[in-house]
Amino acid sequence: MSRTILVTSALPYANGSIHLGHLVEYIQTDIWVRFQKMQGNTCFYICADDTHGTPVMLRAETEGITPEQLIDRVWHEHKSAFEGFHVEFDHYGSTNSDETRGFAEEIYRRLKAASLIEVRSVEQFYDPVKKMFLPDRFIKGECPRCHAKDQYGDNCEVCGSTYSPTELINPYSSVSGAQPEQRSSEHYFFKLSDARCHDFLNSWTQGRLDKQKVAPLQAEAANKMREWFAAGLSDWDISRDAPYFGFEIPDAPGKYFYVWLDAPVGYMGSFRRLCADKGINFNEYWRADSNVELYHFIGKDILYFHALFWPAMLEFSDFRTPTQIFAHGFLTVNGEKMSKSRGTFITADSYLRQGLNPEYLRYYYAAKLNGTMEDIDLNLEDFAVKVNSDLIGKFINLASRAAGFIAKRFGGKLAKKGIRSECAELTMFMLKTQNLEDIGFLWEGESIHTQNIAKLYEQRNYAHALRQIMYLADIVNKYVDCYKPWELAKEEENHDRLHEVCTVILNAFKRLTVYLKPVLPKLAQDVEIFFNIQQLVWSDADEMLPDHHAINPYSHLMARIEPEMIKAMIAANQQSLKPLPESHSPARHAEAQLHDSVQQKAAGGEVSSVISIEDFSKVDLRVAKIVKAEHVEGAEKLLKLTLDIGEERSRTVFAGIKSVYDPEKLQGRMTVMVANLAPRKMKFGLSEGMVLAASGEAPGLFILSPDDGAQPGMRIK
Ligand code: 2FM
Ligand code: ZN
Repeated sequence: MSRTILVTSALPYANGSIHLGHLVEYIQTDIWVRFQKMQGNTCFYICADDTHGTPVMLRAETEGITPEQLIDRVWHEHKSAFEGFHVEFDHYGSTNSDETRGFAEEIYRRLKAASLIEVRSVEQFYDPVKKMFLPDRFIKGECPRCHAKDQYGDNCEVCGSTYSPTELINPYSSVSGAQPEQRSSEHYFFKLSDARCHDFLNSWTQGRLDKQKVAPLQAEAANKMREWFAAGLSDWDISRDAPYFGFEIPDAPGKYFYVWLDAPVGYMGSFRRLCADKGINFNEYWRADSNVELYHFIGKDILYFHALFWPAMLEFSDFRTPTQIFAHGFLTVNGEKMSKSRGTFITADSYLRQGLNPEYLRYYYAAKLNGTMEDIDLNLEDFAVKVNSDLIGKFINLASRAAGFIAKRFGGKLAKKGIRSECAELTMFMLKTQNLEDIGFLWEGESIHTQNIAKLYEQRNYAHALRQIMYLADIVNKYVDCYKPWELAKEEENHDRLHEVCTVILNAFKRLTVYLKPVLPKLAQDVEIFFNIQQLVWSDADEMLPDHHAINPYSHLMARIEPEMIKAMIAANQQSLKPLPESHSPARHAEAQLHDSVQQKAAGGEVSSVISIEDFSKVDLRVAKIVKAEHVEGAEKLLKLTLDIGEERSRTVFAGIKSVYDPEKLQGRMTVMVANLAPRKMKFGLSEGMVLAASGEAPGLFILSPDDGAQPGMRIK
């Protein structure tokens, strides 16, 4: 019976690029969704950008644009990265939408009506320069335990201890460098400690409610829940103070929903938009007693949000709860965390720009994913070896070895399809096998493998499914080596036999293509064109192409990976930044993410990779005289500088140095600027270059000065 299924992947933050870590999840989900669709199930795949929170707000400010402009640009970048990897959403939305706002407000109102919202006063660090409360990750200082300098507000990377930001010694704001003050403010809490929430979640996480037909969590995740329950559930702080980019809480001016409150609501908001576009009945999917299956694919780091907060929010606002949550592990590259300095922090875009086929990565990830929360490793050497040996060596070559004969000798037409009973015995003898089950798939009719592989896809054990498929590909290759079409082609008397053998090989290739289609959708599409057939669905696996079916001329389906391409990709990703505390999950806690400007401030560690003198000479550095320095209305960080670099016309540059420099004191001073940087349109005007400044781990920003005697416009070499 056909099923109705709604599937989501975690919503990526709108302040960073999609990288190979993210893709573990989207590829995993996309394979599953494609498999469901091939089965004839009604299945929708929903995602969106997660747009709210402090990092987005600050990043937009650094770039001199509005948050809306930033999230719009990133949305397009994300969309094209996903398309590049054939991740096909039914709808890709944004949490900054009317739909998401509507549901977030509705849920909040219902929770409040159920007396599950409480207002309490909270003491928090406040940045007096930025005039904002600081999330823990934006406070740094000396570790109270080991006294390491410049540690984050919630944990020390040197000794590993965790603490509250108020324990830091000499804390400073990593946004402005200012010393934060403690201030109190009213916060809104979702009362997870309420007995109703506790009892519900205790049963729900273990799959004990009547309405649950399956356990919602993988065994390891359910165990984690038991630990969390044993530690006790605390109320959840769902509000943040202005300034904040997000949705204002309806009855609380100046208070905003914390990004994690509206992020999962984005699943509903994005789906609502699809419903409007396609005439789908939203309530059928989300009402409390819905029969539709709902699955969330997530990284294991955001289990807490999806397995506790989210089901509780839904349950007590009278919406349906998820059927299952599928958590996966993190990605390592060459056995280590992805690293910018090693060049293994690889963006989706840079992978594609090297001309690497996205289906190589889809295949490799699938070969590693087994439905558990284990981390997976992308070993770049193994990647090339595996793709070349499995996909090219075992699979693609089958088509290329048989197709030419069909075109040249048989006018592009296949023979009559073989009948299993006629051929099986001889083939068993030839292939020296006793096992009809193993070779039965070479002819028409149901194969036990079709069901087994389907079961493995359903369980998200793609690794096992692909092993099984490659085992079958090995058998077809044995068949080829045994019947040797190239030998048959030498004798005219073997004409018919050659036709039959090539037909068996191509039909087997078609069957393998069906099995691989969820992983390799583009390749499958090319095979469909080659075979001159409609889109393959799962039940086509057991069907042969019709007798005397005409196929198209074969053109090469996939090239080998050249190791040089991988080397070039690593080189392209190698950056000078000191490795940051990157979580390599495809998804990260909003406030754990530092926006770029803060990342750059933290830099200063490793020296960049070597460049040539030609590279260096591309940067036109000039001595500049600051003729005028002014505040910019509405800009919290920027000063507007008018610079004389010996040209007829002066240059205008917006520099993010307001927190450290008084404009009056800058006037008349000499400094250094990049004169040939492409002008950038900012919210406040056009910036025609960049003034150089030094910064390190500690707060502070220092613009450069040339020695006495240097004149405006002198080149710095
Ligand atoms: O961790 C993250 O990257 C979050 N943006 C995931 C949100 S998933 C869902 F809740 F929206
Ligand atoms: Zn420490």
